[in-house]
Amino acid sequence: MRIGIIGPGEMGEALGRQWVRLGHSVVVAGRSPDKARALAERLGPKARAGTLAEAVAFGETVLIAVRYEGLLQTLVSAGAREGTFIGKTLVDCNNPVEINTFAPVTQGGQSMSEAIALTARGAAVVKAFHLCHASVWKMVPPAFDGRPLSVPLCGDYDDAKAVVADLITAMGCRPVDLGPLSQARNLEAMAAVIIKLLFAGAEPTSNFNLVNAVR
Ligand SMILES: NC(=O)c1ccc[n+]([C@@H]2O[C@H](COP(=O)([O-])OP(=O)(O)OC[C@H]3O[C@@H](n4cnc5c(N)ncnc54)[C@H](OP(=O)(O)O)[C@@H]3O)[C@@H](O)[C@H]2O)c1
Repeated sequence: MRIGIIGPGEMGEALGRQWVRLGHSVVVAGRSPDKARALAERLGPKARAGTLAEAVAFGETVLIAVRYEGLLQTLVSAGAREGTFIGKTLVDCNNPVEINTFAPVTQGGQSMSEAIALTARGAAVVKAFHLCHASVWKMVPPAFDGRPLSVPLCGDYDDAKAVVADLITAMGCRPVDLGPLSQARNLEAMAAVIIKLLFAGAEPTSNFNLVNAVR
């Protein structure tokens, strides 16, 4: 598959590594062309750098991995208002969390995913990959005690969710479909709690081993 990666940071690198390893081709873009070029070089021959517009045009699926302060403007800069995202699966791995208070930053009461869907007209937005640190996405496979990582996702389009679920499965993880994009409000709030606990020094596997607790 052809994948556009917008945001050559930690998440763009971790997920980009997984996807080129699985044989996908990627075009990386960001506000800094130098950073995009450097990441594309690190990802190897299946990757190249481009402009924001080129990454969107290239990708059947596009990952947006940009800090929340500049995220919606980045989509606009990538031509969202002109319809460049129409027909694309747009993967949102972002955590709009204010890092001093650990409060979720809503967009007029909406989740960031819903704001992305309104901004990137015509895109099928899927929230996924946001609950784990980039270091987890660098694991091959991301598994703990031999058990594959469960990866919650949500979105309004089944075909787009199937694309993302296939990526998750190919990475060695287990997709968990939580339903429509409105569920992103819960997933983003969940991320805020997890980030707060992690910053407080909580040990993730014992704090979040909820499924085992009810077995
Ligand atoms: N890191 C993690 O472990 C992790 C885990 C789960 C989810 N996430 C989420 O994934 C997204 C990306 O995280 P990351 O750690 O990869 O971020 P990052 O490395 O700090 O930066 C990602 C990209 O965001 C760009 N950026 C930052 N502020 C911007 C602004 N005001 N306007 C335009 N672009 C801006 C950066 O550009 P420059 O390089 O030019 O600064 C960079 O290309 C975030 O929303 C984060 O909440 C991160």
